[in-house]
Amino acid sequence: MADTMLEKEYAKSGLLKLSRDFCERCGHAPLAYVHSFGCQQNVSDGEKLKGQLSGIGYDFTDDITKAQLILLNTCAVRENAEDKVFGTLGDLKHLKEQNPDTVIAVCGCMAQQKHVAEKIKSTYRQVDLVFGTFAYNDFYQMLLEVLTNRTRIFNQSEKPSDIDEGFTQLRSDKLRAFIPIMYGCNNFCTYCIVPYVRGRERSRKPDSVIDEVTKLVSQGYKEITLLGQNVNSYSYGFSELLKEADRIPGKFRIRFMSSHPKDAGKELIDTILESEKVCKCLHLPLQSGSDRILKLMNRRYDTKQYLDIINYARSKAPEFSFSTDIIVGFPGETYKEFCETKELVKSIKYDNIYSFVYSRRSGTKAAELEDSISDKQKGLWLRELLLEQREVSSQWLSRFVGKTVEVLAEGEGRTGEDYLTGKNDEGIIVEFKADKKYIGEFVQVRITKAMNWALEGELVEDK
Ligand code: 5AD
Ligand code: SF4
Repeated sequence: MADTMLEKEYAKSGLLKLSRDFCERCGHAPLAYVHSFGCQQNVSDGEKLKGQLSGIGYDFTDDITKAQLILLNTCAVRENAEDKVFGTLGDLKHLKEQNPDTVIAVCGCMAQQKHVAEKIKSTYRQVDLVFGTFAYNDFYQMLLEVLTNRTRIFNQSEKPSDIDEGFTQLRSDKLRAFIPIMYGCNNFCTYCIVPYVRGRERSRKPDSVIDEVTKLVSQGYKEITLLGQNVNSYSYGFSELLKEADRIPGKFRIRFMSSHPKDAGKELIDTILESEKVCKCLHLPLQSGSDRILKLMNRRYDTKQYLDIINYARSKAPEFSFSTDIIVGFPGETYKEFCETKELVKSIKYDNIYSFVYSRRSGTKAAELEDSISDKQKGLWLRELLLEQREVSSQWLSRFVGKTVEVLAEGEGRTGEDYLTGKNDEGIIVEFKADKKYIGEFVQVRITKAMNWALEGELVEDK
């Protein structure tokens, strides 16, 4: 399917006409149910697809049974993410039998894999359209073809499409915006499917990123998160980009994720510490605390190099906040090696860890390694790690008690009635009693208590 502007415009006008016809017949615009699974990058892709749908006259619904178009934007990083999608597709069989005109589409990382497309083709006949992450620029043409010819389309093209700067992202959040600055990954960690489903690294031009941040800030966004599989291998210089974003006038915060430890050094830490708006925290996926396992994972750093970054940051700012990702039960990992991870996690004192049981991803190098530990056993190790971390984090979080911190109030809290919830600079949840009028504002909160999942505090009112 050629990706020319002309074809796209032609498809767009055809789709607009179909939407108008639908509107005349049914008295309302056609409705789309769009659900994105997985990481923020994927959510951001989903918002761009929603922007495209809005451009051809679609409205949106959260009620899947009312939708004329169901679009599942999928994640492939772990098996349970895929299982959820297959479960939903199974449930949709009945809906499709009742409403044969409903278009069911599956896109995203899972849909990029040929074996998944084959499985959907043969087993889930209710699905009309399956397209991978390289085919987003062809969305209009594919949708028009499905709607007019009632054919099933499977597009797993591996040709990287140009970064399209023209998409309007239909954001659901009015306070926090996620901006992809690069796509893809070159690292080939042996467990990870991402390089296979999102291709090689491609960076957006700094000017276009900075323009987008400026525009969002002028629209009232208070927190901007720059996204990429490895933001710090941004090819035009990540520290430079952070410095430029920091110079944009206005009251807002800058966050970013994820960073690869092999590319994170003193320059990044210095940039964070010297900036006004960049939050003083770093998500730095460790994955394992065993040097043997790190090697098998092809992570390209060892625990000493990782600790050098932590120690440098903490030598300059002793309370610098780190969070991390950990994989438990990589093939061949012994209990002793798992304990090395546990001990390292304990000694580093993270504010947050995101830990996962290793999930075998077919096509990756690690999928070929022998794996003798059962998932049940790995689940027990994971629990052990989480219990340990819970203790560490509530102690470590207590460094905030008695201090006044800035919080972006995001919404109603869960501690009790009249509580609001928000996050401090370090990304830690803060719950505090305050009027709802503060939602969407930066407020000063004096921390009174550290729990293992959040901080509690009192609003410091302006005099
Ligand atoms: N199994 C378990 N966890 C994984 N991750 C990536 N691939 C896998 C896998 N095959 C985790 C890593 C990564 C996070 C986004 O997901 O910890 O940092
Ligand atoms: Fe996966 Fe490694 Fe790329 Fe992260 S850096 S997405 S873990 S391959």
